[in-house]
Amino acid sequence: MKAKHILTCAAALWCLIASHAQTIQVTTSETDLFMKVSPAGRLYQVYLGEKLANPSDAEHLDWPVYPSSDGSVSERGWEVYACSGNEDFFEPALAMQHSDGNLTTRLYYESHEQKAVEGGTETVIRLRDKAYPVAVTLHYVAYTKENVIKTWSEIVHSEKKPVTLSAYASTMLYFGADKYFLTEFSSDWAREAQMSSQQLQYGKKVIDTKLGSRAAMHTHPFFELGIGGEVEEQQGTVLMGTLGWTGNFRFTFEVDNVGNLRLLPGINPYASLYQLKPNEVFTTPEFIFTLSNKGTSKGSRNLHEWARNWSLKDGHGNRLTLLNNWENTAFDFNQDILASLMKEAKKLGVDMFLLDDGWFANGKHERKDDHAGLGDWDVNHAKLPQGLPALCNAADEAGVKFGIWIEPEMVNPNSELFEKHPEWAITLPNRETYYYRNQLVLDLANPKVQDYVYSVVDNIMKADPRIAFFKWDCNSPITNVYSPYLNQHQHQLYIDHIRGLYNVMRRVKEHYPDVPMMLCSGGGARCDYEALKYFTEFWCSDNTDPVERCYIQWGFSQFFPSKAMCAHVTSWNKRASVKFRTDVASMCKLGFDMGLKDLTDDEIKYCQTAVANWKRLQPCILDGVQYRLISPYDTNHMALNYVSADKSKAVLFAYDLHPRFKEMLRNVKLQGLDASKRYMVKEINLMPNAQPTLEADGKIFSGDYLMKVGINVFSATELTSHVVEITAQ
Ligand code: DGJ
Repeated sequence: MKAKHILTCAAALWCLIASHAQTIQVTTSETDLFMKVSPAGRLYQVYLGEKLANPSDAEHLDWPVYPSSDGSVSERGWEVYACSGNEDFFEPALAMQHSDGNLTTRLYYESHEQKAVEGGTETVIRLRDKAYPVAVTLHYVAYTKENVIKTWSEIVHSEKKPVTLSAYASTMLYFGADKYFLTEFSSDWAREAQMSSQQLQYGKKVIDTKLGSRAAMHTHPFFELGIGGEVEEQQGTVLMGTLGWTGNFRFTFEVDNVGNLRLLPGINPYASLYQLKPNEVFTTPEFIFTLSNKGTSKGSRNLHEWARNWSLKDGHGNRLTLLNNWENTAFDFNQDILASLMKEAKKLGVDMFLLDDGWFANGKHERKDDHAGLGDWDVNHAKLPQGLPALCNAADEAGVKFGIWIEPEMVNPNSELFEKHPEWAITLPNRETYYYRNQLVLDLANPKVQDYVYSVVDNIMKADPRIAFFKWDCNSPITNVYSPYLNQHQHQLYIDHIRGLYNVMRRVKEHYPDVPMMLCSGGGARCDYEALKYFTEFWCSDNTDPVERCYIQWGFSQFFPSKAMCAHVTSWNKRASVKFRTDVASMCKLGFDMGLKDLTDDEIKYCQTAVANWKRLQPCILDGVQYRLISPYDTNHMALNYVSADKSKAVLFAYDLHPRFKEMLRNVKLQGLDASKRYMVKEINLMPNAQPTLEADGKIFSGDYLMKVGINVFSATELTSHVVEITAQ
């Protein structure tokens, strides 16, 4: 009893002192993050949640007091950037070995400031160790309107010798709730963005990758965290977070002894004990998150808007519809074949022809398949004797733009580049080499290699400035993990490699700011918001089976706007009609990858109509607001609608994937319309001579009715799709 009394008094005194301490607020239109400096000068998270209506209430906020068994009250709380070796016995954000061998770091608040930046307010907080010359600067950019917070950290020291970093999270966030649920996005080639959920219990759940490049092949750098309950589409509190890092990443979720949860997102320190030199600044990647109290649906819309406004390359620009040749010809083409495909592109009505892999390398290294030629970016004379200008001429004649595929970070050992510069490839000097897709990864830590990779883009643009688009591929993880350039500093390989990659991407964007680029990695193994600063869009998956695509696109749509997601109509799953395949691709940035010879006249006419519709509705589909309505994960169907910013136009997409016998087909209720407006419902994307099958077709409804009662757009026939244009009268 006595001990309990002492504990209560001590806690009360502590709270009294603490309530007068310095408080820092990071705030958006809907979220508040409050931090407070303790009397001892340490910085604690005191609140992360729905925005407080009365800012003055913040004075009551305190970090949780952790009782000790002896009745004393310790400093242990939700330390904002907890370091190893202190009162907290769980996972730290920062762990370093000082040059004298000491493994502890203790950070104290020094100062902070807030300033207006593009889109919001940046809070910069400086922390410093008193015993060692180590400083950490925490950055938080709060995007007010979009309710998104972007945060990262900088670590620096002025010890006499390098220190070794073994943990360097981008940030650290805490939650106190009875239950936590995690939705993760596992992946593999042709199985990207597969969603699964689990409850988090005591201990750690780690999502990480060790692939180096093609780094998100097995799991993607984003997650959804249900706080207090399961992750749900339309309700509940969910934190949706993503790391802007194209290399190895790690998310750690740890539930501690009293049921609090901490989240640590950052670079994966695996095989990366970072030797930080005196005065060198270690900048972590950006962690971007939104906290939604209305489920993932709202959270996704926050992120979509943020991405288009502040992050994605050319976030407000249009996107080019295209015809690609990879699924159609693979490596087997020549000038004439491509010229006729360009005419097919024109016939379809798309904007561009995109030439894929196989157009480069000569002689014994000729790229006939994926065994040779990567690294030798001269046009293949046998296939394309008149080079890139002739292709651009053919595109001009056909009346389409011309885009081209590259994979500039890689080399086939069977190439002139490798013969000339074997030291430019990441490979082990003293072991047998193993290959992934017969290739090796170039050593981007080496500035000379960075220059070379940049020159791949630059030379192509110089060969013909009419080149209007790049598809930048990356098909191999880092194998034979040894950088000839880094010598004794192999522990920096995974990090310096990605920093080198960004140096190249930055340079490309600086020199060619208006050239749109597709980020591709053997499908969708690169899908992060740092790379997407340099790319207008990404390739979601080589799996273009429209049924599978419904799941994949549903998954990626959680974090990315449709504008960033490329979807092509191909011959995968011929059981599905061309209409169904096209309707699925039309939810995202539309493209084709098939020959018109595979289509009937009616199918070609259908595609022409669908392309024209898509282009007309592009402002609504790519720039509008997305509402996911019916999940393929929960039902046998899928539906979503987009609404233009002024609510004058909406497009509804509905798919019957695998309906069951005698299944009850319920109306789909639209979202995001203006309840007081009246809308005309019209089914579009119909096969020639087909009549609309929807009962609602041609009728006018109020927005209120469409959202409360809805319309019947599902059928009992599998692989049926409907695209519905909804126009305010
Ligand atoms: C993998 C990509 O995902 C495909 O679209 C295609 O470009 C091939 N690489 C070419 O090698």
